[in-house]
Amino acid sequence: MKILVTGGAGYIGSHVLRALTRAGFDPVALDDMSFGVSKRLGDTPLVQMDLASAGAKNELVRIFKDQEITGVIHLAARKSVAESVAQPEYYYQQNVGAMLNLLAAMQEAGVMNLVFSSSAATYGAPAEAKVSEDYVCQPINPYGETKLIGEWMVANAVKAWGLNGVCLRYFNVAGAGYDDLGDTSVANLIPIAIHAYKNKTPVQVFGTDWPTPDGSCVRDYIHVADLAEAHISALNYLKEKNREELVFNVGTGKGSSVLEVLAALSQVVGEEVQVNHANRRPGDPAALSADVAKIASVLGWQAKHNLLEIVESAYRASLN
Ligand SMILES: NC(=O)c1ccc[n+]([C@@H]2O[C@H](COP(=O)([O-])OP(=O)(O)OC[C@H]3O[C@@H](n4cnc5c(N)ncnc54)[C@H](O)[C@@H]3O)[C@@H](O)[C@H]2O)c1
Repeated sequence: MKILVTGGAGYIGSHVLRALTRAGFDPVALDDMSFGVSKRLGDTPLVQMDLASAGAKNELVRIFKDQEITGVIHLAARKSVAESVAQPEYYYQQNVGAMLNLLAAMQEAGVMNLVFSSSAATYGAPAEAKVSEDYVCQPINPYGETKLIGEWMVANAVKAWGLNGVCLRYFNVAGAGYDDLGDTSVANLIPIAIHAYKNKTPVQVFGTDWPTPDGSCVRDYIHVADLAEAHISALNYLKEKNREELVFNVGTGKGSSVLEVLAALSQVVGEEVQVNHANRRPGDPAALSADVAKIASVLGWQAKHNLLEIVESAYRASLN
């Protein structure tokens, strides 16, 4: 199967490319290279284009036909929550606009298989510490809204023209499956902590009085290599007849606190990482982790790596 991976030169996309190749698929990457890194692609061919641009739909139809693409893994998106709050129109134009072009092109070209990168940001700030897929989605920023709208668009295409679609709601993705594929953006806790440690500055811990065992926020950290494998399970699921499920959480099911993450980093680097206790940030839920019962039972997938392996691999890749 020839699979187009949008956002293929990104952090997660490049892991997906390698997982696809290992599993015997034939991947092609598509990326506008705004955040992509060409070194990550290896031998995988790249189509460079902005999926949200005016001519993207027709260009995609041509690519689908010329390259005989049979499925798409759609990871390309803008992903900064803060930027989405400051520039909501841009986020709708990019993330929703790209999805619109993609689905219209898939329908026209008869490409019937799609795995969509969604996010735990669709849940917003739930009252429950562990959420299953049927928990009500109330995103609290435009980024999360664009992901939820993307899920609705997939669901409607499934109903209207028989698309085989699956949405994967990623929790907190971290680590590196290969030393050359680390997360180069300094936007999530683990890269931020590594960056601060290397610069000999303290890591900010936002709130140590949350109703959690050690008072810091709890999240579900999923190793990017495990996440990449979930895409292979999802593609295989799309081949099954009588599918009923559209949305899957992808996490470990186990929450780790900010202080536990920093303790793991201290263990990896062999010295105490400096910490600065700061105030809570508005909008942060105290604890959020994935109920992973559905992905385990329906896709037969479960995470293999633990927190220490995630932090250790992220640190090693940061030295690359
Ligand atoms: N990293 C996480 O923790 C996390 C969590 C939940 C969901 N996600 C989702 O996973 C996906 C991949 O995230 P990532 O962490 O690898 O980010 P990333 O920025 O490394 O990768 C995204 C890639 O998409 C490309 N891109 C963005 N907009 C594009 C467009 N309009 N046309 C073509 N290419 C475009 C970028 O150049 C980049 O290479 C995103 O959809 C993101 O929302 C990530």
